[in-house]
Amino acid sequence: MIQLKNVTKIYRMGSVELRALSNINLTIEDGELVAIMGPSGSGKSTMMNILGCLDVPTEGTYLLDGIDVGQLKDNRLAEIRNHKIGFVFQSFNLIPRTSAVRNVELPLVYAGAKDRRSKATEALEMVGLAARIKHLPNELSGGQQQRVAIARAIVTEPTMLLADEPTGNLDTASTMEIMRLLVGLNDAGRTVVLITHEHEVAGFAKRVIRLRDGKIVSDKIQHNRTDVNAPIPVSQYEAADASANET
Ligand SMILES: Nc1ncnc2c1ncn2[C@@H]1O[C@H](COP(=O)(O)OP(=O)(O)OP(=O)(O)O)[C@@H](O)[C@H]1O
Ligand SMILES: [Mg+2]
Repeated sequence: MIQLKNVTKIYRMGSVELRALSNINLTIEDGELVAIMGPSGSGKSTMMNILGCLDVPTEGTYLLDGIDVGQLKDNRLAEIRNHKIGFVFQSFNLIPRTSAVRNVELPLVYAGAKDRRSKATEALEMVGLAARIKHLPNELSGGQQQRVAIARAIVTEPTMLLADEPTGNLDTASTMEIMRLLVGLNDAGRTVVLITHEHEVAGFAKRVIRLRDGKIVSDKIQHNRTDVNAPIPVSQYEAADASANET
C-alpha cells in the first residue's frame, strides 16, 4: 500500500525554488489501477519518481507497505525498488543492440537471481513475444518494444507497476494492446499506477487522479470504466464527444 502524507517536492535551481508537488495526501491500496492525469508540468512525473523510490520528498512522508522510504539509505532504497516496483516509460528505455531476452534479464542480474534466461523467456511469453526473444529493439515495432519493457518490468515479480505515459509514443492499435496487458496484470493482482494524457487510456483505470500545479484537484472512482475486452475505438470516442457538443 502507498501512503503519501503532506508530501511536498521542491526543486532548487540556484536561487529559484520550484514547488513541483505541494502537500499531497494520497493512499493507494494494493490491487488498484490508477490513472494520473494533468497538464504538462503539473507534477505527474515528480509524483511517479517519488512513488517509485527514484526520488524522495522534500517534506512529508511516503510510506510504502508501511516503510518510511524517506528515511532509507540509497542502497536500501534501491533494494526496495528492485523488489517491489516495475517501471515502464514512454520511450521504452531498452538497451540498444541487445536482444529482447537479454534486456528482460537485466533486472534479474541486478537482483542476483537464478534461472534468469528461463524467467526472462517466460515474461516475454506472457506479453506475447515468445517468437521475438532474440530480436534487437530496432527489429521490433514500438508496441513490441513496449511489451519487452513490460516483460522487463514484471520479470522480478514486483507488486506494483509504475508507467509514465506508456502509450505516449504508440499508435491506437498498440495502445490498446499495451492497455490490455496492463489491465491483465492488474486483474492478476498487481497495483498499477499510470500517467497518461489520453482520455481513452485513462478510461481503463478504476480510479482517476488529476493534478494541477502540484496539487490533487480531483480523485474519482471510475464506475463505468472501459472494458478492456471490448475497447471502443478512439474514433468513436471522438464521434461521441462531437455529438455531445452539438446537443
Ligand atoms: N529535476 C528537476 N529540476 C528542476 N525542476 C524540475 C525537475 N523535474 C521537474 N521539474 C519541474 O517540476 C515541475 C513538474 O514537473 P513534472 O516533470 O513532474 O511534470 P509532468 O506533470 O510530468 O509534465 P509532463 O506532462 O510534461 O511530463 C515542472 O515545472 C518542471 O519544470
Ligand atoms: Mg512527465
